[in-house]
Amino acid sequence: MRGNVIIIGSGIAALQLAKKLSRNLHVIVFTKSTLTVSNSYLAQGGIAVALSDSDNAEKHYHDTMEAGRYHNNSATVAMMTKEAPELIKELINEGCPFDRNENGEIKLGLEGAHSEKRIIHGGGDATGKTVIDFLQTQINHVTVMENMTVYELIISENRCVGVKVKGLDGHTIQAYAEHIVIATGGLGQIYSFTSSAETVTGDGLALAYRAGAELSDMEFVQFHPTLISANGKGVGLASEAVRGEGAKLVTEEGTYLMEGFHPYKDLSPRHVVSQEIYKALKEGHTVYLDISTIDNFVKKFPTVASICIEHGIDLASGRIPVVPGCHFLMGGIRTDLNAQTTIPGLYAIGEAACTGVHGANRLASNSLLEGLYFGNRLADFINENSAQMKKPERWLSEVKAAPPKRALPDIELLKSTMMERTGIARTKENLEKQLDFLKSFAAPQWVKADLEDLSIEELNEVFMLICSWLVTKAALKRTESRGGHLRLDYPNEDAGWEKRQIIQQLKGDRIEQSEITPAAGTILSGRYR
Ligand code: SIN
Repeated sequence: MRGNVIIIGSGIAALQLAKKLSRNLHVIVFTKSTLTVSNSYLAQGGIAVALSDSDNAEKHYHDTMEAGRYHNNSATVAMMTKEAPELIKELINEGCPFDRNENGEIKLGLEGAHSEKRIIHGGGDATGKTVIDFLQTQINHVTVMENMTVYELIISENRCVGVKVKGLDGHTIQAYAEHIVIATGGLGQIYSFTSSAETVTGDGLALAYRAGAELSDMEFVQFHPTLISANGKGVGLASEAVRGEGAKLVTEEGTYLMEGFHPYKDLSPRHVVSQEIYKALKEGHTVYLDISTIDNFVKKFPTVASICIEHGIDLASGRIPVVPGCHFLMGGIRTDLNAQTTIPGLYAIGEAACTGVHGANRLASNSLLEGLYFGNRLADFINENSAQMKKPERWLSEVKAAPPKRALPDIELLKSTMMERTGIARTKENLEKQLDFLKSFAAPQWVKADLEDLSIEELNEVFMLICSWLVTKAALKRTESRGGHLRLDYPNEDAGWEKRQIIQQLKGDRIEQSEITPAAGTILSGRYR
């Protein structure tokens, strides 16, 4: 099979790219499930964009940097926040049905760590679904292949030229293109509490690492404060917009949890709120969202309400039990402003990419925006450069080692140990214990192993094992606390770590000083082509 562009994944970044690519290009989308299964589709919270008269891109920029604890790439943040209004107005003009107020204007909501009301929503708390459903109507020219898992990137003469793909029945195909794009999302499923879709098992991150691409900032994992808790599990998200409407975090005795946290209190940055809830839970409390002051809750938050009803949570009590869980990976496959990775022909967009926008902790509702923004940028880049791209001539992929003989870990044990040892609060001791655990299942050997004969289930497990190992290694290396990365043994931010990125690549890990402030459209670092 041959095309011009192969996109792996089908969330908002993937579909925005597909929509924006030239109709002259043959575009193939491989998705391991269906177009309606992705983190984007589940996204309740909206899209951050400075649209109101009192707001501007500069305020959005500052809120993004503050939440990211200044680990962000400032130039990239400046460009994204500046260009966001045009990008969103384009979607509005094309007919994407965002929520409007009684005057017919786009409604703007508030979320954590935003200094202005600037969150647009669709379907109340179904923004991801609203945008994905809309984008799907715009990609009739694209070949979409559902239930197809990409398990290997084909690298020939240091260039990515194709992918190996497995269907549900185990049959395999190889597909080739000039441009291969990873848009597979994050790695939420490596944790026992997560808001991520079941399919989010770190595939793209593992594929890229195995192929030799650079990954960066893998220690920065965001834990959302309010997953709905039922029967000891996180069963879905209670959007931050619920706190934006006035809900408060309280313990079982009614003690208000965020009293001392000025100025934002319940709407403090996510890592702050998650860490506070985690502390209360460790002390044996139960933590609730008190929604008693919100009128018309079911109408305003239909998705949250239906999750509660499905799990027997009585909304009339005015309380929803909550627990923090993995929500977003700020790190990922290292890219430049055009979404190019360090391997020619390979690109990454969306949560799988580390563009530097989110720094150490993502600001609420910046992820759908980032997907739209980099989907758009990459489409421009490919549309402009496609004619000059040389078609791959040699399609021989390199030989891999025999798979390790050891069994893969029990998946629930992998998730619970990651939660406990590489989760919200980390220590050297726990991280070392987790590394030993992961090594005992041959995590480093799986990086180089041949995956040809593995079932889809085994492939998911191998990708999760590799991602767990990468996150744990990076978390051990960063001896400070910053944003989503809390080290109990190094509880403060350390100026010596500011803007230093931990880069992981198959040939070795290194720490890189990366204060990068390129002009718009230029390449981020001299090491890129
Ligand atoms: C939420 O609705 O709380 C999630 C939004 C986001 O992750 O940006």
